[in-house]
Amino acid sequence: MNKFNITSLFIILSFIGIVISQQSPQTYNVVFSTSKGDVEIFVNRSYSPYGSDRFYALVQDGFYTDNAFFRVIQTPLFVAQFGISPDSSLNDKWNITIPNDPVVISNTAGTITFAAEEENNQACCRTTQLFINYADNSFLDSAGFSPFGKVISGFNNTLNFYGGYGEEPDQSLIYSEGNSYLQQNFPLLSYLNSVKIISEKW
Ligand SMILES: *[C@@H]1O[C@H](CO)[C@@H](O)[C@H](O)[C@H]1NC(C)=O
Ligand SMILES: *[C@@H]1O[C@H](CO)[C@@H](O)[C@H](O)[C@H]1NC(C)=O
Ligand SMILES: *[C@@H]1O[C@H](CO)[C@@H](O)[C@H](O)[C@H]1NC(C)=O
Repeated sequence: MNKFNITSLFIILSFIGIVISQQSPQTYNVVFSTSKGDVEIFVNRSYSPYGSDRFYALVQDGFYTDNAFFRVIQTPLFVAQFGISPDSSLNDKWNITIPNDPVVISNTAGTITFAAEEENNQACCRTTQLFINYADNSFLDSAGFSPFGKVISGFNNTLNFYGGYGEEPDQSLIYSEGNSYLQQNFPLLSYLNSVKIISEKW
């Protein structure tokens, strides 16, 4: 085999490896089309590899289509949380946890992070839910909440998400009943309509 063929083989095998392990690109940008306008997010896999890989896979599967921002805490400014699909079969499909990542960048305003349960003051068991940090929430760093990206435009639009319901929406009812539960009880919530990948570097 000559040098060219060995190189080609290596490239092909690397590509297969990426597809099988479902790695995300090294960096990529996505646009959230929301009911309050567009929000662009930059993701760097080095910030949080498992988080970046899972987010990329979820975006490609259309998971975030028509997701409500169901936990929007603005007084004082804290987070806008989302990531329960209105389609319960998608929630079941992706109810598989990813391991923790180290915290590389801090939970400052505009960063985006997987939500998690907390066990012994440590984040645990990430699946699909995310939050955008509205303020400097770097106190979350020591609990292992690892941001995987940053809002690079449209942060002002996120501040316009409806926040009047606070912690009221019941997450398990969103899981089981989808958006009809939200539309009946929390009609003013803001929505993530769709997510589009606009650039990527492998
Ligand atoms: C991605 O993050 C790594 C680790 O923080 C950093 O060294 C690198 O410069 C970042 N890349 C970009 C394009 O921001
Ligand atoms: C997700 O899976 C875990 C265990 O695998 C289960 O305990 C939990 O109830 C599931 N969550 C939902 C919302 O179905
Ligand atoms: C947010 O900022 C962008 C760019 O500066 C601007 O075009 C847009 O109108 C602003 N949106 C709101 C709701 O203020």
